[in-house]
Amino acid sequence: MVTTAIETVNLAKIFPGGVQALNSLDLNIRTGESVGYLGPNGAGKTTTIQIFLNLLRPSSGDVFIFSEQLKGQERKIMRRIGALIELPGFYDNLTPNQLLRHICRLYRMEQGVMNQSIKEILDLVQLTEVRDRSIGTFSTGMRRRLGIAQVLVHDPELVIFDEPTNGLDPKGIREIRDLIKTLNKDGKTVFMCSHNLPEVAEISNRVIFLKNGNVIEDRQMREFKSRLSSNIIELKFIRSLTEKEKKNLNSITNVLNVVYDHSIFIEYQGSLDTTHQILQDLLKYNFPLYYFTPRLMTLEELYLQLFGKEVI
Ligand SMILES: Nc1ncnc2c1ncn2[C@@H]1O[C@H](COP(=O)(O)OP(=O)(O)OP(=O)(O)O)[C@@H](O)[C@H]1O
Ligand SMILES: [Mg+2]
Repeated sequence: MVTTAIETVNLAKIFPGGVQALNSLDLNIRTGESVGYLGPNGAGKTTTIQIFLNLLRPSSGDVFIFSEQLKGQERKIMRRIGALIELPGFYDNLTPNQLLRHICRLYRMEQGVMNQSIKEILDLVQLTEVRDRSIGTFSTGMRRRLGIAQVLVHDPELVIFDEPTNGLDPKGIREIRDLIKTLNKDGKTVFMCSHNLPEVAEISNRVIFLKNGNVIEDRQMREFKSRLSSNIIELKFIRSLTEKEKKNLNSITNVLNVVYDHSIFIEYQGSLDTTHQILQDLLKYNFPLYYFTPRLMTLEELYLQLFGKEVI
């Protein structure tokens, strides 16, 4: 049965000093979903997560986790959530085994369940072999995997990640992404902030875009994929375009939109014939073209359309 994992109603957060970080936010995340929560710096993503984890109090509005009001039931609800919100500050002289035992005791897990859970979790994050080695000797990737073990050891139904692969090498990134996908496959609800759009496209089945504390897009990834099938041509020129040339570019038949970034992207709708016609027009206007690559729009280009060149 599909139920609601996270619901916010008119959630607002105004920080002392007047910064309105969240502005009447209504979210509804269903159990089993894997949500990518995206937006430029300062959009309000971390604020949202901190409210879910009871680290910040909202200024107004309500939060429901698994249909239970967070306010007043924080302790009970936190047992159902696991969160990796920053590089955890580990006790370097402990071993993974000791650390996880410590956490299980905090959750008052019974001995037998604890032993089984620690064994499974160390296997899952591939730290079984080093379970008795001190954490001080661990690499960043190993620490991150241990962080995930820490998140999962009490078997939460909802897992929250803020930039889970930041600072990892390609192998570490692959491992963490696969792990998060496995968690979702196993039925856990995933809520993840990431600035890495290919990561979100790979992991999430729903994507929510936040800007200035408001949701500006909320789509199933498959819907995006159909929107992403609108066509893009990436162009490069041997020099910057003049204002007149930019105007001409916009006026070419079938060009819907032009986005300026490290390359120039034009969005159009149509078939191969349209692509050919656009190329012919570019040559007719004598654009100083050296690179012309038609392809499907990526999540990154869509983001660029929504947010312009704001830092992500
Ligand atoms: N403790 C605080 N006091 C005052 N303002 C704050 C505080 N924490 C966050 N803010 C402000 O709230 C807004 C939202 O910040 P938040 O950290 O939620 O953004 P974010 O989407 O996580 O950004 P980033 O991508 O940079 O992590 C920003 O304008 C930020 O400056
Ligand atoms: Mg943040």
